[in-house]
Amino acid sequence: MADLVARFHEIFGRLPAVRVVRGPGRVNLIGEHTDYNGGFVMPMALEASVRLALAPHDEPTVALWSEQFAERAQFPLGGPPPDEVPHWVRYPMKVAEVLAEAGVALRGFKAVVEGDVPVGSGLSSSAAYEVAAALALLVAARPDLPAGSAEKAAAAHGLTAGKLALLCQTAEHRVGVRCGIMDQFISIHGRRGHAIVLDCRDLSYEAVPLPTGSAKVVIIDSGVRRKLTSGAYNERRSQCEEGAGRLRKFDPDIKELRDVSPDLFRAHEAALPGVVRRRCRHVIMEDARVLESAQALKAGDIEHFGRLMNESHDSLRDDYEVSGPELDLLVRIARGVPGVLGSRLTGAGFGGCTVTLARPEAVEPLRAAVLGRYEKKTGLAPRIWVSEAADGAAVEV
Ligand code: GLA
Repeated sequence: MADLVARFHEIFGRLPAVRVVRGPGRVNLIGEHTDYNGGFVMPMALEASVRLALAPHDEPTVALWSEQFAERAQFPLGGPPPDEVPHWVRYPMKVAEVLAEAGVALRGFKAVVEGDVPVGSGLSSSAAYEVAAALALLVAARPDLPAGSAEKAAAAHGLTAGKLALLCQTAEHRVGVRCGIMDQFISIHGRRGHAIVLDCRDLSYEAVPLPTGSAKVVIIDSGVRRKLTSGAYNERRSQCEEGAGRLRKFDPDIKELRDVSPDLFRAHEAALPGVVRRRCRHVIMEDARVLESAQALKAGDIEHFGRLMNESHDSLRDDYEVSGPELDLLVRIARGVPGVLGSRLTGAGFGGCTVTLARPEAVEPLRAAVLGRYEKKTGLAPRIWVSEAADGAAVEV
């Protein structure tokens, strides 16, 4: 953090009162592609984050320096958006747009952006960035705002933390992906040592402690970067909407796939075209798995939780078709290691990371198995982290 402030001084000069905000990435333990169907998810926030060091200035512009792209860019607050900005600038620009529409009186600032959430890896670097940018905008607009949680920063502007998450989600939609609410919500509401079980329809949630003594969360990056994600992602979403629409014939109360019980689905699945049927089966069974996982975690039955993670992956691979050979290989290697309880892809899929639940003594054998076999078969170098659940976004300084 001291380094980031020092970088700010190097790039923009010795301005006083430099603030630092942080938005974390996330890993989803179970509940994939359920959020935009009004269903349930169980993510946790990560230490890996996007941070901005910023200081307000008197012009109505946001001037940014990106550490990752070693590039300077700026955008105006209000007025017509510039024709061309680098892709990384679109996120804060869209966040500014939605905050202004929500009535926040924005002020300009200068900021250095840095992050250690790998981009395109399914750990929600974009949500981390949107949330960090939102906090930067809130702090710049109210320089007297003390350090503290995102919830407090939102409240100072008359917003709830949930509303802030929804605004960041709208910003992502405007960038081009019709994502659900999971990533922005967990980036704001994460809690150290806990996973969050979130009802994506009404945004009610419960923090469930993770059994860190008896199981570790291991994230493995396949090194495959997502391509063409927005197209395939938005297509899945439309297929789900089509399925919910067709099933509504059998129960007019069905608004989204969240409202379809496994029994109703089994009774009427023949009415759905093949691909849509498989997409719906994944979502409906995955919702049930999240609720079952929450029960298992609370009861301390981590073996059961691990089995549900395995079922989730198989369903994402076969019915939802968002896995790939590399993710499948990582999952197979992990499941072959004694003491591994469950392993699955995490996030949207199409590349990115797997998440594995492993007994503490299985972590080193897992690392050795992945390092020994994955690169040989794929030519890709995997990255492996053992992750603790971190707190959500905050104004740090
Ligand atoms: C991406 C989206 C989320 C969610 C996941 C899949 O991370 O941003 O809203 O849909 O994919 O579970």
